[in-house]
Amino acid sequence: MSPDNFQTWSNDHQRRFEEVLRHLLPSADTSPRRLHAAMRYSVLDGGKRVRPLLAFAAGELAGADVARVNFAAAAVEMIHAYSLVHDDMPCMDDDVLRRGKPTCHVEYDEATALLVGDALQSLAFQLLSEHTLNDDATRQLQMVKLLAAASGSRGMAGGQAIDTDSLGKQLTLPELEHMHIHKTGALIRAAILLGAHCGTLHEKQMKQLDHYGKCIGLAFQVVDDVLDAEADTATLGKTAGKDADNDKPTYVTLLGVPAAKQMSSDLHREALEALSGFGDAARRLRELADFIVLRKY
Ligand code: IPE
Ligand code: IPE
Ligand code: MG
Ligand code: MG
Ligand code: MG
Repeated sequence: MSPDNFQTWSNDHQRRFEEVLRHLLPSADTSPRRLHAAMRYSVLDGGKRVRPLLAFAAGELAGADVARVNFAAAAVEMIHAYSLVHDDMPCMDDDVLRRGKPTCHVEYDEATALLVGDALQSLAFQLLSEHTLNDDATRQLQMVKLLAAASGSRGMAGGQAIDTDSLGKQLTLPELEHMHIHKTGALIRAAILLGAHCGTLHEKQMKQLDHYGKCIGLAFQVVDDVLDAEADTATLGKTAGKDADNDKPTYVTLLGVPAAKQMSSDLHREALEALSGFGDAARRLRELADFIVLRKY
Protein backbone atom coordinates (compact mmCIF):
# COMPACT_ATOMS: atom_id res chain seq x y z
CA MET A 1 0.00 0.00 0.00
CA SER A 2 1.34 3.35 -1.02
CA PRO A 3 1.16 6.05 1.69
CA ASP A 4 -1.17 8.93 1.01
CA ASN A 5 1.22 11.76 1.50
CA PHE A 6 4.15 12.55 -0.84
CA GLN A 7 6.49 13.39 2.02
CA THR A 8 5.82 10.04 3.69
CA TRP A 9 6.10 8.18 0.39
CA SER A 10 9.47 9.75 -0.43
CA ASN A 11 10.84 9.41 3.14
CA ASP A 12 9.87 5.73 3.19
CA HIS A 13 11.58 5.08 -0.14
CA GLN A 14 14.68 7.08 0.83
CA ARG A 15 15.08 5.17 4.08
CA ARG A 16 14.51 1.81 2.45
CA PHE A 17 16.78 2.64 -0.49
CA GLU A 18 19.62 3.71 1.80
CA GLU A 19 19.70 0.14 3.15
CA VAL A 20 19.64 -1.23 -0.40
CA LEU A 21 22.69 0.87 -1.29
CA ARG A 22 24.49 -0.08 1.93
CA HIS A 23 24.01 -3.70 1.02
CA LEU A 24 24.99 -3.38 -2.67
CA LEU A 25 28.24 -1.47 -2.09
CA PRO A 26 31.29 -3.51 -1.08
CA SER A 27 31.88 -3.25 2.67
CA ALA A 28 34.64 -0.94 3.90
CA ASP A 29 36.62 -3.87 5.30
CA THR A 30 36.78 -5.57 1.91
CA SER A 31 40.13 -5.07 0.19
CA PRO A 32 41.07 -2.58 -1.22
CA ARG A 33 39.68 -0.92 1.86
CA ARG A 34 40.48 2.68 1.10
CA LEU A 35 38.74 2.53 -2.27
CA HIS A 36 35.67 0.79 -0.83
CA ALA A 37 35.50 3.25 2.07
CA ALA A 38 35.68 6.14 -0.42
CA MET A 39 32.93 4.60 -2.57
CA ARG A 40 30.67 4.30 0.46
CA TYR A 41 31.58 7.83 1.56
CA SER A 42 30.54 9.17 -1.85
CA VAL A 43 27.26 7.29 -2.21
CA LEU A 44 25.80 6.85 1.28
CA ASP A 45 24.17 9.28 3.69
CA GLY A 46 23.52 12.15 1.38
CA GLY A 47 21.77 13.54 -1.60
CA LYS A 48 18.14 14.01 -2.40
CA ARG A 49 17.90 10.67 -4.25
CA VAL A 50 15.76 12.33 -6.90
CA ARG A 51 16.72 9.86 -9.63
CA PRO A 52 15.88 6.77 -7.56
CA LEU A 53 12.57 8.36 -6.52
CA LEU A 54 11.77 8.98 -10.17
CA ALA A 55 12.57 5.34 -10.95
CA PHE A 56 10.33 4.16 -8.09
CA ALA A 57 7.49 6.43 -9.21
CA ALA A 58 7.76 5.24 -12.83
CA GLY A 59 8.01 1.65 -11.61
CA GLU A 60 4.81 2.05 -9.60
CA LEU A 61 3.10 3.47 -12.67
CA ALA A 62 4.22 0.47 -14.72
CA GLY A 63 3.22 -2.07 -12.06
CA ALA A 64 6.83 -3.14 -11.46
CA ASP A 65 8.09 -5.16 -8.51
CA VAL A 66 9.97 -2.71 -6.27
CA ALA A 67 12.64 -5.34 -5.59
CA ARG A 68 13.53 -5.12 -9.29
CA VAL A 69 13.36 -1.33 -9.43
CA ASN A 70 15.85 -1.23 -6.54
CA PHE A 71 18.62 -2.46 -8.84
CA ALA A 72 17.76 -0.02 -11.62
CA ALA A 73 17.57 2.87 -9.13
CA ALA A 74 20.87 1.85 -7.51
CA ALA A 75 22.59 1.63 -10.90
CA VAL A 76 21.46 5.15 -11.80
CA GLU A 77 22.41 6.57 -8.39
CA MET A 78 25.89 5.02 -8.66
CA ILE A 79 26.42 6.63 -12.05
CA HIS A 80 25.16 9.91 -10.60
CA ALA A 81 27.45 9.68 -7.54
CA TYR A 82 30.41 8.90 -9.82
CA SER A 83 29.56 11.94 -11.97
CA LEU A 84 29.55 14.15 -8.85
CA VAL A 85 32.90 12.81 -7.59
CA HIS A 86 34.52 13.55 -10.94
CA ASP A 87 32.63 16.86 -11.40
CA ASP A 88 34.14 18.12 -8.13
CA MET A 89 37.75 17.28 -8.97
CA PRO A 90 40.28 20.09 -9.49
CA CYS A 91 40.45 19.34 -13.22
CA MET A 92 36.71 19.96 -13.48
CA ASP A 93 34.70 22.27 -11.17
CA ASP A 94 37.25 22.18 -8.34
CA ASP A 95 34.78 21.98 -5.46
CA VAL A 96 35.60 21.19 -1.83
CA LEU A 97 32.07 20.62 -0.48
CA ARG A 98 29.46 18.08 -1.59
CA ARG A 99 26.34 16.91 0.23
CA GLY A 100 27.51 18.88 3.26
CA LYS A 101 30.83 17.01 3.50
CA PRO A 102 34.33 17.48 2.04
CA THR A 103 34.39 16.25 -1.56
CA CYS A 104 35.85 12.80 -2.22
CA HIS A 105 39.24 14.04 -3.48
CA VAL A 106 39.56 16.32 -0.43
CA GLU A 107 38.61 13.64 2.10
CA TYR A 108 40.73 11.01 0.31
CA ASP A 109 42.92 12.05 -2.62
CA GLU A 110 42.61 12.64 -6.36
CA ALA A 111 43.70 9.19 -7.46
CA THR A 112 41.15 7.61 -5.13
CA ALA A 113 38.42 9.95 -6.40
CA LEU A 114 39.21 8.96 -9.98
CA LEU A 115 39.00 5.29 -9.08
CA VAL A 116 35.80 5.77 -7.07
CA GLY A 117 34.17 7.07 -10.24
CA ASP A 118 35.53 4.22 -12.35
CA ALA A 119 34.44 1.58 -9.85
CA LEU A 120 30.96 3.04 -9.29
CA GLN A 121 30.38 3.08 -13.01
CA SER A 122 31.34 -0.58 -13.34
CA LEU A 123 29.23 -1.52 -10.35
CA ALA A 124 26.20 0.17 -11.94
CA PHE A 125 26.46 -2.03 -15.02
CA GLN A 126 27.16 -5.11 -12.95
CA LEU A 127 23.90 -4.53 -11.05
CA LEU A 128 21.91 -4.11 -14.26
CA SER A 129 23.29 -7.30 -15.74
CA GLU A 130 23.47 -9.72 -12.81
CA HIS A 131 19.94 -9.34 -11.43
CA THR A 132 16.66 -10.02 -13.18
CA LEU A 133 14.96 -6.70 -13.89
CA ASN A 134 12.54 -7.95 -16.52
CA ASP A 135 11.48 -11.50 -17.44
CA ASP A 136 12.20 -10.61 -21.06
CA ALA A 137 15.99 -10.85 -21.44
CA THR A 138 15.94 -8.77 -24.62
CA ARG A 139 14.19 -5.97 -22.76
CA GLN A 140 16.78 -6.18 -20.00
CA LEU A 141 19.57 -5.88 -22.54
CA GLN A 142 17.87 -2.74 -23.86
CA MET A 143 17.94 -1.37 -20.34
CA VAL A 144 21.70 -1.88 -20.11
CA LYS A 145 22.10 -0.08 -23.43
CA LEU A 146 19.83 2.72 -22.28
CA LEU A 147 21.97 3.46 -19.22
CA ALA A 148 25.19 3.18 -21.25
CA ALA A 149 23.91 5.69 -23.81
CA ALA A 150 22.66 8.07 -21.12
CA SER A 151 26.03 8.01 -19.28
CA GLY A 152 28.48 8.04 -22.17
CA SER A 153 29.92 10.52 -24.63
CA ARG A 154 26.51 11.09 -26.21
CA GLY A 155 24.92 11.49 -22.80
CA MET A 156 26.18 12.72 -19.42
CA ALA A 157 29.94 12.49 -20.12
CA GLY A 158 29.41 14.30 -23.43
CA GLY A 159 27.47 17.05 -21.67
CA GLN A 160 30.28 17.40 -19.14
CA ALA A 161 32.78 17.69 -22.02
CA ILE A 162 30.76 20.56 -23.49
CA ASP A 163 30.60 22.12 -20.01
CA THR A 164 34.37 22.05 -19.51
CA ASP A 165 34.83 23.45 -23.03
CA SER A 166 32.49 26.34 -22.36
CA LEU A 167 34.27 28.12 -19.51
CA GLY A 168 34.41 31.84 -20.16
CA LYS A 169 32.27 31.50 -23.26
CA GLN A 170 28.83 32.83 -23.99
CA LEU A 171 26.63 30.04 -25.39
CA THR A 172 23.45 30.56 -27.38
CA LEU A 173 20.20 29.36 -25.86
CA PRO A 174 20.08 26.22 -28.07
CA GLU A 175 23.72 25.41 -27.19
CA LEU A 176 23.05 25.80 -23.47
CA GLU A 177 19.94 23.63 -23.73
CA HIS A 178 21.96 20.98 -25.59
CA MET A 179 24.61 20.97 -22.83
CA HIS A 180 22.07 20.73 -19.99
CA ILE A 181 19.97 18.04 -21.67
CA HIS A 182 23.11 15.92 -21.91
CA LYS A 183 25.04 16.58 -18.71
CA THR A 184 22.00 16.30 -16.41
CA GLY A 185 18.87 15.54 -18.41
CA ALA A 186 20.06 12.26 -19.93
CA LEU A 187 20.50 10.42 -16.62
CA ILE A 188 17.24 11.72 -15.17
CA ARG A 189 15.42 10.60 -18.30
CA ALA A 190 17.10 7.20 -18.05
CA ALA A 191 16.10 6.82 -14.39
CA ILE A 192 12.44 7.21 -15.31
CA LEU A 193 12.57 4.85 -18.28
CA LEU A 194 14.54 2.21 -16.39
CA GLY A 195 11.98 2.24 -13.58
CA ALA A 196 9.19 1.81 -16.13
CA HIS A 197 11.05 -0.96 -18.00
CA CYS A 198 10.99 -3.03 -14.79
CA GLY A 199 7.22 -3.22 -15.36
CA THR A 200 4.97 -2.97 -18.38
CA LEU A 201 3.70 0.04 -20.32
CA HIS A 202 2.52 0.48 -23.89
CA GLU A 203 4.90 2.13 -26.31
CA LYS A 204 2.81 5.29 -26.42
CA GLN A 205 2.91 5.51 -22.63
CA MET A 206 6.70 5.05 -22.70
CA LYS A 207 6.91 7.96 -25.14
CA GLN A 208 4.83 10.10 -22.79
CA LEU A 209 7.16 9.22 -19.92
CA ASP A 210 10.18 9.99 -22.06
CA HIS A 211 8.81 13.43 -22.84
CA TYR A 212 8.09 14.02 -19.16
CA GLY A 213 11.71 12.99 -18.43
CA LYS A 214 13.15 15.26 -21.09
CA CYS A 215 11.29 18.28 -19.68
CA ILE A 216 11.92 17.56 -16.01
CA GLY A 217 15.58 16.66 -16.63
CA LEU A 218 16.22 20.02 -18.27
CA ALA A 219 14.18 21.82 -15.62
CA PHE A 220 16.35 20.14 -12.97
CA GLN A 221 19.54 21.77 -14.27
CA VAL A 222 17.86 25.15 -14.87
CA VAL A 223 16.84 25.11 -11.19
CA ASP A 224 20.36 23.99 -10.20
CA ASP A 225 21.74 27.05 -12.02
CA VAL A 226 19.26 29.35 -10.25
CA LEU A 227 20.04 27.83 -6.84
CA ASP A 228 23.78 28.22 -7.44
CA ALA A 229 23.14 31.95 -7.85
CA GLU A 230 20.47 32.44 -5.16
CA ALA A 231 20.83 29.90 -2.35
CA ASP A 232 23.49 29.72 0.35
CA THR A 233 26.19 27.11 0.88
CA ALA A 234 24.71 25.72 4.11
CA THR A 235 21.34 25.06 2.46
CA LEU A 236 22.84 23.57 -0.70
CA GLY A 237 25.50 21.44 1.01
CA LYS A 238 27.80 22.55 -1.84
CA THR A 239 29.57 25.85 -2.50
CA ALA A 240 27.10 28.50 -3.67
CA GLY A 241 28.15 30.92 -6.40
CA LYS A 242 30.51 28.39 -7.94
CA ASP A 243 29.23 28.85 -11.50
CA ALA A 244 30.03 32.57 -11.44
CA ASP A 245 33.44 31.86 -9.82
CA ASN A 246 34.24 29.38 -12.58
CA ASP A 247 32.86 31.70 -15.29
CA LYS A 248 30.35 29.11 -16.50
CA PRO A 249 27.61 29.87 -18.97
CA THR A 250 24.29 29.01 -17.26
CA TYR A 251 20.63 29.89 -17.64
CA VAL A 252 21.25 32.62 -15.07
CA THR A 253 24.09 34.24 -17.02
CA LEU A 254 22.21 33.93 -20.30
CA LEU A 255 18.68 34.86 -19.27
CA GLY A 256 18.88 36.28 -15.73
CA VAL A 257 17.14 34.78 -12.70
CA PRO A 258 13.51 35.79 -13.47
CA ALA A 259 13.55 34.40 -17.03
CA ALA A 260 15.37 31.24 -15.88
CA LYS A 261 12.64 30.70 -13.26
CA GLN A 262 9.99 31.28 -15.91
CA MET A 263 11.65 28.69 -18.08
CA SER A 264 11.67 26.10 -15.29
CA SER A 265 8.00 26.74 -14.68
CA ASP A 266 7.21 26.36 -18.43
CA LEU A 267 9.09 23.05 -18.47
CA HIS A 268 7.23 21.98 -15.33
CA ARG A 269 3.89 22.58 -17.07
CA GLU A 270 5.03 20.72 -20.18
CA ALA A 271 6.19 17.78 -18.03
CA LEU A 272 2.80 17.59 -16.33
CA GLU A 273 1.02 17.78 -19.69
CA ALA A 274 3.04 14.80 -20.88
CA LEU A 275 1.46 12.74 -18.08
CA SER A 276 -2.10 13.51 -19.10
CA GLY A 277 -4.18 10.37 -19.45
CA PHE A 278 -2.36 8.44 -16.72
CA GLY A 279 -4.73 9.56 -13.98
CA ASP A 280 -3.89 8.95 -10.34
CA ALA A 281 -1.28 6.31 -11.21
CA ALA A 282 1.12 9.11 -12.22
CA ARG A 283 0.57 11.08 -9.03
CA ARG A 284 4.08 10.51 -7.65
CA LEU A 285 5.65 11.61 -10.92
CA ARG A 286 3.58 14.81 -10.79
CA GLU A 287 4.62 15.40 -7.19
CA LEU A 288 8.27 14.80 -8.07
CA ALA A 289 7.99 17.33 -10.91
CA ASP A 290 6.65 19.83 -8.36
CA PHE A 291 9.51 19.03 -5.98
CA ILE A 292 12.18 19.39 -8.69
CA VAL A 293 10.98 22.81 -9.75
CA LEU A 294 10.06 24.22 -6.33
CA ARG A 295 12.98 22.83 -4.30
CA LYS A 296 15.26 25.11 -2.31
CA TYR A 297 18.35 22.84 -2.35
C1 IPE B 1 23.56 17.70 -8.60
O1 IPE B 1 22.55 16.76 -8.60
C2 IPE B 1 24.24 17.69 -9.92
C3 IPE B 1 23.38 17.99 -11.04
C4 IPE B 1 23.17 17.15 -11.97
C5 IPE B 1 22.75 19.30 -11.13
P1 IPE B 1 21.58 16.63 -7.35
O2 IPE B 1 21.04 17.98 -7.00
O3 IPE B 1 20.57 15.57 -7.64
O4 IPE B 1 22.57 16.15 -6.22
P2 IPE B 1 22.29 15.24 -4.94
O5 IPE B 1 22.27 13.83 -5.42
O6 IPE B 1 20.96 15.65 -4.34
O7 IPE B 1 23.44 15.51 -4.03
C1 IPE C 1 26.82 18.69 -12.78
O1 IPE C 1 26.44 19.97 -13.04
C2 IPE C 1 26.35 17.71 -13.76
C3 IPE C 1 26.96 16.40 -13.50
C4 IPE C 1 27.59 16.08 -12.40
C5 IPE C 1 26.89 15.44 -14.54
P1 IPE C 1 26.99 21.00 -11.96
O2 IPE C 1 28.45 21.11 -12.01
O3 IPE C 1 26.17 22.24 -12.08
O4 IPE C 1 26.56 20.25 -10.60
P2 IPE C 1 26.86 20.82 -9.16
O5 IPE C 1 26.23 22.19 -9.11
O6 IPE C 1 28.33 20.83 -8.99
O7 IPE C 1 26.14 19.86 -8.26
MG1 MG D 1 29.95 20.78 -13.36
MG1 MG E 1 29.81 21.16 -10.30
MG1 MG F 1 25.46 23.38 -10.48
